[in-house]
Amino acid sequence: MRILTGLQPSGRLHVGNYFGAIKPAIDAQGEGDGYYFIADYHAMTTTHDPATLRENVRGVAIDFLACGFDPSRGVFFKQSAVPEVNELAWVLSTVCPMGLLERCHSYKDKIAKGISANHALFAYPALMAADILLYDSNIVPVGDDQKQHLEVTRDLVGKVNEQYGEGTLVMPKARIREGVAKVPGLNGEKMSKSYDNTLPIFGDEKPNKKLIMRIQTDSAAVEEPKPTENSVILALYQLFAGESEYKQMISDYENGGCGYGDFKKRLAEAYWDYFSPMRARREELIANPDEVDSVLAAGAEKAREEASKVIDRVRKAVGLI
Ligand code: ADP
Ligand code: TRP
Repeated sequence: MRILTGLQPSGRLHVGNYFGAIKPAIDAQGEGDGYYFIADYHAMTTTHDPATLRENVRGVAIDFLACGFDPSRGVFFKQSAVPEVNELAWVLSTVCPMGLLERCHSYKDKIAKGISANHALFAYPALMAADILLYDSNIVPVGDDQKQHLEVTRDLVGKVNEQYGEGTLVMPKARIREGVAKVPGLNGEKMSKSYDNTLPIFGDEKPNKKLIMRIQTDSAAVEEPKPTENSVILALYQLFAGESEYKQMISDYENGGCGYGDFKKRLAEAYWDYFSPMRARREELIANPDEVDSVLAAGAEKAREEASKVIDRVRKAVGLI
């Protein structure tokens, strides 16, 4: 069984990305044959500055490895290291009705946000389908927001196989991460870089802890019991603390006698400790850029080898060879 997922190189990772995407991807290692790539071609739909693109791609590679991805148990590569993906995207485009792309929410949302419409942004789902189909992927773990893109991918497989013969492409399945609760941001809304409410995974201790100390709370006095419902402090603490520490905080909320400042301090400590091994690993990787390069190079070689089998099959099926 082949599991494949793509990571957007979109700047500094936050705690929501970690629990919503990075950790589930790393946890899925070993479940099957894992393919993970950095979607740098996709990033070009919105990033036109070469230095920024390079920096973001490098950043996500380092962070993903630092978070625990084990290159001996999976393939990790840059999307653009296998340019055949564009050829497959083209083939898919030739059977893709305009209406299928016109209906995509992600495209409409981006336009509504003021991102200018370009062809690549519109064709994004066809390239994403090619990412998946180029490796005969079976399972694609993604967030809820990508569900529709997986439906487009499945539609395109149906069309290609109908036109060019069953077995030309393998039908993939989405694995929607529904079990993963949305991580709240520092203001209580969903944590997202668009809402300016994020807690970064990496970065310096003082400013990051300060973000936690600035979480808004009600004005209950120290001795009063505090509401546990919708508490951002508790929701985040649960992600970082052990079960008994979490239960202790719940009972301290319910019994009164502890102030919010104390809860925030406990949260800040638990957060800092949680990512401590990953920070250390990240420092090592920053000091050894060759290690990151060699992981990506080995991944690219393996991915390209797999891709060449599929693209050959497709070229024959459509009549290019
Ligand atoms: P952002 O909302 O900050 O722009 P992205 O859309 O780049 O984040 O998300 C990248 C991945 O991280 C997606 O798979 C998404 O499902 C996951 N993710 C982002 N924010 C959260 C969150 N607050 N809780 C859970 N998962 C999240
Ligand atoms: N579109 C995905 C996102 O925004 C990233 C992505 C690109 C992807 N290609 C993919 C995810 C293929 C899964 C499979 O998060």
